[in-house]
Amino acid sequence: MFSKAYSGTIHGIEGLIVSVEADVSDGLPLFEMVGLLNSEVKEARERVRIAIKNSGFRLSSKRITVNLSPADIRKEGTAFDLPVAIAILTSFGYILEENLKQTLIIGELSLNGNVNRVNGVLPLVYSAMEQGFLRCIVPRENAGEGAVVEGIETYGVSTLREVINLINDFDNAKAEKVDFKKIFNKNLDNEELDFSDVVGQLAVKRSVEVAVSGMHNILMIGSPGSGKTMIAKRIPTIMSDLSFKESMEISKIYSIAGLLDSKALITKRPFRSPHHTITTTALVGGGRNPKPGEISLAHHGVLFLDELPEFQKNTIEVLRQPLEEKEVNISRLNATFRYPAAFMLVSSMNPCSCGFYPDRNRCTCSLPMVKRYLGKISKPLLDRFDICIETMQIDYKELRSKEKGETSADIRQRIGIARQMQMERYKNHNIWFNSELSPRNIKKFCKLDSKEQSLLEQAFIKLNLSARTYHRILKVARTIADLDQSEKISTKHISEAICYRSLDQKYWGE
Ligand SMILES: Nc1ncnc2c1ncn2[C@@H]1O[C@H](COP(=O)(O)OP(=O)(O)O)[C@@H](O)[C@H]1O
Ligand SMILES: [Mg+2]
Ligand SMILES: [Zn+2]
Repeated sequence: MFSKAYSGTIHGIEGLIVSVEADVSDGLPLFEMVGLLNSEVKEARERVRIAIKNSGFRLSSKRITVNLSPADIRKEGTAFDLPVAIAILTSFGYILEENLKQTLIIGELSLNGNVNRVNGVLPLVYSAMEQGFLRCIVPRENAGEGAVVEGIETYGVSTLREVINLINDFDNAKAEKVDFKKIFNKNLDNEELDFSDVVGQLAVKRSVEVAVSGMHNILMIGSPGSGKTMIAKRIPTIMSDLSFKESMEISKIYSIAGLLDSKALITKRPFRSPHHTITTTALVGGGRNPKPGEISLAHHGVLFLDELPEFQKNTIEVLRQPLEEKEVNISRLNATFRYPAAFMLVSSMNPCSCGFYPDRNRCTCSLPMVKRYLGKISKPLLDRFDICIETMQIDYKELRSKEKGETSADIRQRIGIARQMQMERYKNHNIWFNSELSPRNIKKFCKLDSKEQSLLEQAFIKLNLSARTYHRILKVARTIADLDQSEKISTKHISEAICYRSLDQKYWGE
């Protein structure tokens, strides 16, 4: 007898529906699986056979053939165990085939018949919903991930036996429910860090506010102990809330990386700060069993690279392409796919190896040494920072002063306003933040009057800017105007944006 169940596999961050066909016929007892399977999927055969036996079902000696289709996509992972077992048991008459229709089944099996968690449940359930499936059966531990998708019922299961009872009696089963309010309210946990801890540094704080408002890349340069790390670590406390759509996009990535845990959704903008020993693959993604890298885990949030020159030069150079394209392309033998990577890059660096350049009284480095140190950051990479800012050492007296700075809540409120302006403006475009504007969209949304135009042209010549920097200045000016709640970009906004790009000359200029 022939029967068919439905499951899925992950391609990039999208779920693809795969049908699992089982045929049982007379002939030499045999169990074979076909359909472009990687080794993990091939091993399903043994797990399925033993799990079925240990769940108390007898399969008489028959010839069993399982086919996973479409045949031209490679099937990976262990999530096919459960649908394969179900398709076989249906062929043997243990399950009503009628009930397998419009039902997505995913899960790994233990030899004792338990159903184990798998990665990528959220994107798979999402795709099933889009294709009109009515329900999905997923491992109990992944049930929350499935349940956040509206328009499809999710059932969490722990054993193979339970699945069979469920499928034969959907009418009496209870689907998993999630309380979105509860998930999103977890956001309000009190923060230990706050911007009010940072004394002085008004210019730096302002630049960070601008950067976060438009999700612009920012580089802080300054001597050790001047507060670079301290400021960066407080960025999460001022970032705007996630929309549901953003949260869903990020959660899909975390689902595939196996990092969702018991949280059904990621509800806060990510803040990733990998150590400088990180490998290129771990940073940008890929590998033999491809996984999203740190830059994708930072999607819609922040990637913080502290002490940028300490990273392997080739590792950080690889960032150039995703910084431009907001996604990363992973090529494999038989497929290419994309992981989203619209992140904001926050970096810090000392200006030289002793840390005190250009203070010639304190810096002990020779000029060639300074040049070599700064040269660890290539010009093209440097160009990708919309904002470069110096952190100045603050003196003892300032540090002692009891005067508290602005709180994170104050700053966050202003950033929220700038975010609203952007959401409103780009609601019919697939853009969230000013930093994502393409050159064509810049023309449309960053229009300048003649006065502003000539100011920018002068700076372009004087600072010897590249075309890329020119566009970046316009985008930052757009954000500064948004913070001002002004649709018009004025000279004030332009000149502040230019300021953020004038440090190049001081450190990297001839
Ligand atoms: N502006 C500041 N306000 C309050 N404390 C500061 C400030 N700048 C530095 N500090 C103190 O100095 C420490 C070292 O700063 P840090 O951020 O690690 O410097 P950097 O990363 O620039 O080397 C901080 O943990 C903090 O205690
Ligand atoms: Mg530091
Ligand atoms: Zn030095």
